[in-house]
Amino acid sequence: MEFVYDEMNQDIVKLAKDFAEKRLLPTVHERDEQEVFDRSLVNELGELGMLGIPFPEEYGGVGADYLSMAMACEELCKVDASIGLSLEVHTTLCSWPIYKFGTEEQRQKYLVPLASGTKLGAFGLTEPNAGTDALNGSTTAIKDGDHYILNGSKIFNTNGGEAEITVVFAVTDKSKGSKGLSAFIVEKGTPGFTYGKQEVKMGIHGSVQRELIFQDMQIPAENLLGKEGEGFKIAMMTLDGGRVGVASQALGIAEGALDHAIKYSKERIQFGKPIAKFQAISFMLADMKAKVEAARWLVYKAAYDMSTGANYTMSAAIAKKVASDVAMQVTTDAVQIFGGYGFTREYPVERYMRDAKITQIYEGTTQVQQMVIAGALLK
Ligand code: CAA
Repeated sequence: MEFVYDEMNQDIVKLAKDFAEKRLLPTVHERDEQEVFDRSLVNELGELGMLGIPFPEEYGGVGADYLSMAMACEELCKVDASIGLSLEVHTTLCSWPIYKFGTEEQRQKYLVPLASGTKLGAFGLTEPNAGTDALNGSTTAIKDGDHYILNGSKIFNTNGGEAEITVVFAVTDKSKGSKGLSAFIVEKGTPGFTYGKQEVKMGIHGSVQRELIFQDMQIPAENLLGKEGEGFKIAMMTLDGGRVGVASQALGIAEGALDHAIKYSKERIQFGKPIAKFQAISFMLADMKAKVEAARWLVYKAAYDMSTGANYTMSAAIAKKVASDVAMQVTTDAVQIFGGYGFTREYPVERYMRDAKITQIYEGTTQVQQMVIAGALLK
């Protein structure tokens, strides 16, 4: 099988690579150390059209495909997994469900500014007691005339506090189980919408995760996304695409760490020669490369399935599971190759290792991917 890398795809990948090298690389270490999210960098991505890669031009997008989006995310994450995450969440978890399930009015009002990069998006599903068990949330939405009143909170919200538009899930009828959750489009600044704790994390320091709090937050009924009770299906379908995004992030992290390890092993002299000349190191590098290439095919395959309209629930779960494990293994090996220096914060590989870990956790843990794969296999 061959993926189609057309001219538009090549231009997008080049743009992402140049941006990563010129705009992200000079400050990535500092932003990681200071644990700051630099919104201006994401705004610049928006100006380049990178926040709307897979959406039609009529909705402010670039009109490319999900493979291009995944490859752009990969290029950013080779250098900076945090800014890549911001793009990934914005595109797959916020803009995509509005594109897929939104009315024409919702697309015009919300997708156009998201895809054209003037507004940033987020996705609010996770709650303190609803992580893997996504249906166990206690945020409620009660219909009141031509409004819904939302009460509750969401945690670990990427882009939280920054995003102007968030797709939020809330229970509209607990008795209906998976048919009792609904999706809503929530705007920053809505009265009753505030922010709580900002997470202090092991990795992805250059991104922001905040708690969202809704207290008698009133939103117009027309901000219901899809139909009442369709929220769980929307969340699951959205996460299928999000997992393609996380898989591409993991691939980029692994490649970035491998590049550093190759360079270092050619420069580092021990016993009178570069350590790359020792088979112990060169075979490690060979295995790292083999894992990266295996992950690449799975990630591109899932993105390709997403672009061509094939069912991608399973390919996305496989790509995320494999690529995130590869990211963890390759970044750990990169630290090993750097030895003591790799363990210090002066060299970049420990950051890659810290950033890799979350790819095995968010948007469904590795074990959730196993559940999804097994579920699809055995149904
Ligand atoms: N597409 C369409 N429909 C789907 C679906 C999919 N991928 N997956 C499930 N459904 C439907 C099922 O068909 C079923 O519908 P019916 O009742 O009509 O048959 C319904 O949803 C319920 O399905 P299940 O019984 O399989 O659901 P479950 O309760 O057993 O859940 C689960 C399965 C896989 C564990 C799911 O809950 C899950 O994915 N959990 C993880 C959630 C997650 O990834 N959270 C991350 C949040 S975002 C984040 O990480 C933060 C960030 O900012 C990056």
